[in-house]
Amino acid sequence: MRLKDKVAIITGAANGIGLAAAKTFAKEGAKVALADFDEATGTQRATELSEEGFEVAFFQVNVADRSSVDAMVQKVLGQYEKIDILVNNAGITRDGMLHKLAVEDFQKVVDVNLTGVFNCAQAVVPAMVQQGSGKIINTSSVSGVYGNVGQTNYAATKAGVVGMTKTWAKELGRKGINVNAVAPGFIETGMTAKVPEKVLEQMKMMVPLGRLGLPEDIANAYLFLASDESNYINGTTLHVDGGIMM
Ligand code: CAA
Ligand code: NAI
Repeated sequence: MRLKDKVAIITGAANGIGLAAAKTFAKEGAKVALADFDEATGTQRATELSEEGFEVAFFQVNVADRSSVDAMVQKVLGQYEKIDILVNNAGITRDGMLHKLAVEDFQKVVDVNLTGVFNCAQAVVPAMVQQGSGKIINTSSVSGVYGNVGQTNYAATKAGVVGMTKTWAKELGRKGINVNAVAPGFIETGMTAKVPEKVLEQMKMMVPLGRLGLPEDIANAYLFLASDESNYINGTTLHVDGGIMM
């Protein structure tokens, strides 16, 4: 087991990539805190995983709200006594062409995808520093590295995540904490289900592997960066996109 007795917080774990990661981590022996805004789905998924014999629990959180994040982290520490891994996976889109993008939609995406990542990392770091070890994995995107039509707000946040990842890798490396990012390509989840069919076809044509990714493809990359196998990897952005970025 690659994560035996490790305690992991995965944000956005009620659905999509985060849920796949929760299952993957739990199968590898981790105690997983599924942290999500979506209480109904998150509670149901945590119950299902518990019934399969995994040690998981749901924690309601709005990553954009600092007091909500602090409360979630305190509850996780209360239940599991330590935090070894944080996967900053929660994210949203509010797509629109630059000339039509509402300021509110720009700000909302920044609040969740950028401030939310900052909030969660800052909230877990004291516990990780105290124990002298930790792994933080941030979720970027091909859109943040490559740009994407209709995603001014989202691309800005996902590029920002890469900048924060490198900064924290430099700040926290000597404290025993590795910080890395994963930049997924186009993955089959609720997020891509909203993309118009014609655009989705264009996306598939960009991928040398000829298909969209599966949530498990990203969960496996998170697992690698959360495990001891990646102990000398710090500050990197791992592109898991079927070869779009090369
Ligand atoms: N790549 C290339 N072309 C795109 C595009 C994209 N991502 N998105 C839109 N276009 C093109 C359309 O095909 C269309 O072309 P034509 O004028 O030749 O028909 C043109 O841009 C205008 O598009 P719409 O007519 O759809 O314009 P709209 O104002 O009604 O809607 C939009 C704009 C909301 C951006 C809509 O096109 C859309 O949702 N596009 C998809 C945006 C996208 O790629 N989102 C990714 C979501 S998945 C994700 O974010 C995960 C991740 O990290 C990658
Ligand atoms: P999804 O929409 O399936 O799941 C996102 C989860 O985040 C949901 O459970 C939602 O409730 C939760 N969430 C949203 N706002 C929240 C908040 N304020 N606080 C707590 N939880 C919140 O999305 P998906 O596809 O699983 O995306 C996961 C991550 O991967 C996101 O950061 C996304 O930007 C990123 N990503 C996704 C890609 C894709 O093609 N699906 C490609 C590249 C990156």
